[in-house]
Amino acid sequence: MHQKIEADVAIVGGGVAGLSAALGLRNKRVVVLTKSAFGRGGSTPIAQGGIACAMGKDDTPELHAADTMVAGDGLSIRGCVDVLTQEGPARIRELIEVGANFDRTEDGELSFGREAAHSRRRILHANGDSTGAEVERALVEAVKRADNIQIIENCYVSDLLRRDDHVVGVYGIINGTEDVIQVNAPAVVLACGGIGRIYRYTTNPVESVGDGLAIAARVGAVLSDVEFVQFHPTALNTTVDPLPLLTEALRGEGAVLLADGKRFMVDIHKDAELAPRDVVARGIWAQQQKGLSVWLDARCVGEKFPQKFPTVYGFCQQAGIDPVHDLLPVSPAAHYHMGGVAVDENGRTSCKGLWSCGECCATGVHGANRLASNSLLEGLVFGARVSQDILASIDWGNTPEPDDVNFVIRPTFVTPAEEEDAWLLRNTMWSDVGLVRCETSMKHALSVFDEIAARKPESLMLCNMIDAARIITQAALERKESRGGHYRTDYPNHDEHTEHHPFVYTGNGPWC
Ligand code: FUM
Repeated sequence: MHQKIEADVAIVGGGVAGLSAALGLRNKRVVVLTKSAFGRGGSTPIAQGGIACAMGKDDTPELHAADTMVAGDGLSIRGCVDVLTQEGPARIRELIEVGANFDRTEDGELSFGREAAHSRRRILHANGDSTGAEVERALVEAVKRADNIQIIENCYVSDLLRRDDHVVGVYGIINGTEDVIQVNAPAVVLACGGIGRIYRYTTNPVESVGDGLAIAARVGAVLSDVEFVQFHPTALNTTVDPLPLLTEALRGEGAVLLADGKRFMVDIHKDAELAPRDVVARGIWAQQQKGLSVWLDARCVGEKFPQKFPTVYGFCQQAGIDPVHDLLPVSPAAHYHMGGVAVDENGRTSCKGLWSCGECCATGVHGANRLASNSLLEGLVFGARVSQDILASIDWGNTPEPDDVNFVIRPTFVTPAEEEDAWLLRNTMWSDVGLVRCETSMKHALSVFDEIAARKPESLMLCNMIDAARIITQAALERKESRGGHYRTDYPNHDEHTEHHPFVYTGNGPWC
């Protein structure tokens, strides 16, 4: 079956960024395509940490911007950071108006938590550590109430459609079928999340395989700063995949890291366990390289643990650990991609007709290292800006038919025959292009990806994983310094002259 839909805007992705964009497009025919069941997949529903926003009495957007700039390690773009911190409070108020319930004090005021590298208590949470689920619930319900938005779920978007050099739509395959959905639209938004799943250890869900990078790269879109991957310091070190996240809010509440019975972060950074994420993650990695296990001692939270951190408590129970009395084994895990499809402060990419928002793009807000809890806010703020820019700039006539398309039918998710190669890729990214990298390890990684590609994988997912892995590795090879989430043993220092890193992928990927 080949179904063709005429729309004004096609949005790929149903998380906070995609749905914020959709809700801003009143009176336009919007189609949202999601790879999993609507509202269920992707990173937003599982985000524990909250939303950073300067709404407290002792806080200002300027202070929030200053903390974001410090975390970004010299690469955050001030103009975009100001947009984030100044427009954030209004977007949060709108989210509350559409029904999101954030945790409040006994007086009914919004309650603000503290997280690493924030100089104020400014993190909003919902149900303790279930913030993303509440944000997604509120947005999904608002989208369902909007009669101009059509949802196509379980549809894996394969590629963009083009007319000359304009993007004019998308096509995808319904999972487990040979059914093609073609959406013709003069504006397309990529909001399809991150890349964590190309790493062996990750907190990210199955959907986060770099689709946005791969899809954009195949139409020649400029990417930016893709070498910067954030590793969360504290995932629960169990055998499940993805690894359960132990939210940073635990360390905000006083939890400490131990190896061999001793706190080691106090010797590494003045803020110890609340140092920037990349510093804490590498601190743990260094202990692991010495053969030591690392533990989070969160016993300070006490008997209220199940109420304060219900999600974490549930994970611990599943692993047979009692966090009120026991230490928690931890490992760093790939968590967030700072780089992505290059966009301006309105989410415009280098391709006409193509916008991007959320984790799959690089606004420049996060620089080399994202400040905790800035990503849900970024999705809200820049999703809304994308919709405003589309409304202001599209000439709403007929959408031209795309140039001839070869609609290739492929399995969507990794097939059983490809499982081993998917694991090989993920292990290689972890060991060779992970928290610590060097030229030799990255060249080795590229040779492994070539071997996998030579076996001609079939599934969209594995093909995109290969493209994303190659893109990140090639870009990381080109950045000859260490900064934020990108640490090279062969170039351990900052290079003051190194700036943003536009990157155009010239590989053919495994498609040919
Ligand atoms: O630690 C956390 O709760 C994660 C927050 C975030 O990634 O922003």
